[in-house]
Parts: sequence; C-alpha cells; structure tokens
Amino acid sequence: MSSSESSATDLKISVAQVGSSESTASSTPPLPADAIEFKMPAPKAPGSLLSAPVGRSEFGGKKKVALAPGFSHIHWMKFMQTLTPQMPQRITMEEVKKHNKPDDMWMVIRGRVYDVTAYVPYHPGGLKELMKGAGKDATRQFNAAHSFVNLDTMMERCFIGVLAT
Ligand code: HEM
Repeated sequence: MSSSESSATDLKISVAQVGSSESTASSTPPLPADAIEFKMPAPKAPGSLLSAPVGRSEFGGKKKVALAPGFSHIHWMKFMQTLTPQMPQRITMEEVKKHNKPDDMWMVIRGRVYDVTAYVPYHPGGLKELMKGAGKDATRQFNAAHSFVNLDTMMERCFIGVLAT
C-alpha cells in the first residue's frame, strides 16, 4: 500500500468519527435564562411588531441581542426612509407618558421627542432596554448606553417634536 492510499483511508475514518461524536443536538449550549423574553415568532415583514429580537450576546462585555434577519442597522436606515416625516410639535411630558408600550413608544432624548415604535425590532440593545425609556425622558439611559449614537441620522423620520417645558 502506498502512503497516499493509507492517508485516504485514515481521512475516511476520522470524518466518520467526527460525525458520530460531535453532531448531536445535545452538544448545543443552552440559551441564557434572560433570552426567553425575546422568543417571539419570526418576522412577517420589516417593521412588524412580531419581529422582536431572538437570542442575546454578551460577548466582550456587550449586551446586544441577536436581531431577527432583515433587522440590521442597514435595514433600518432603508426602512426609515419609507416613513413620513412629521411636522415637529411642542409635546408635553404628560402626553409622552401615554406612549409607553412596545407598539406605541415615545421617548424624550436631549429635549427632543421621538416616536421609536418602528425602531423597536431593530434596536441592538433589545426591547427590554428600550422599555426602560418608554414614555419617559430617557436621556440619562441613552447617554449611558451609547452617547455616540447619532439620533439626527438614525431617528430622522421618528422625530416628532420638542418637549414643552
Ligand atoms: C431612539 C432611541 C435609541 C436608539 C436609536 C438606540 C440605538 C442603539 C444602537 C445603534 C445600538 C448599538 C450600539 C453599538 O453598536 O455598540 C444600541 C445598543 C444598546 N442600546 Fe440603544 N438605542 C436607543 C435607546 C436606548 C435606550 C433608551 C436604552 C436604555 C434604556 C438603550 C440601551 C441600549 C443597550 C444596553 C445597548 C447595548 C449596548 C452594548 O452593546 O454594550 N438604548 N442602541
């Protein structure tokens, strides 16, 4: 037997061994307990409220959730352009407070009021984080999580007014 025939046989055996020992369903690590809240149906269409993030990653100290397919930052920037810009209003905190649900979410950040409802399934920090600022002045939380996020570009079509003081 030549040396090349010998290695071909060896390769065949090792592939069979890898297949039998590693490709079992039980080798999949369990999801973290707090991933359960994001287990929702797959998205039906961009912007659908049924398209909440699935899974979670805390790699490298980050707390981002795994967004559903079709809900990346790029998808958001494209989808946002389909929204109708609103004529900015003066909005009271009393009014903002009424919009505190995943399917009707307003937020005050740096004195400006945003209707973030359409953005919910695209938020890399997930719904749970966004809910902390729903119907509130979320400036402090927003700055703590990501003061570098540019609202003028990302939320351009979600800007609905300035906070009445
Ligand atoms: C209009 C409102 C918001 C926008 C546009 C927005 C946008 C973003 C973006 C772009 C990221 C990814 C950042 C990165 O690449 O590292 C992110 C992550 C995150 N966001 Fe938001 N966000 C908003 C509101 C909030 C609020 C109100 C909170 C907290 C109450 C929050 C908490 C987080 C957290 C915890 C992360 C994960 C940060 C990490 O990976 O370390 N976000 N958000």
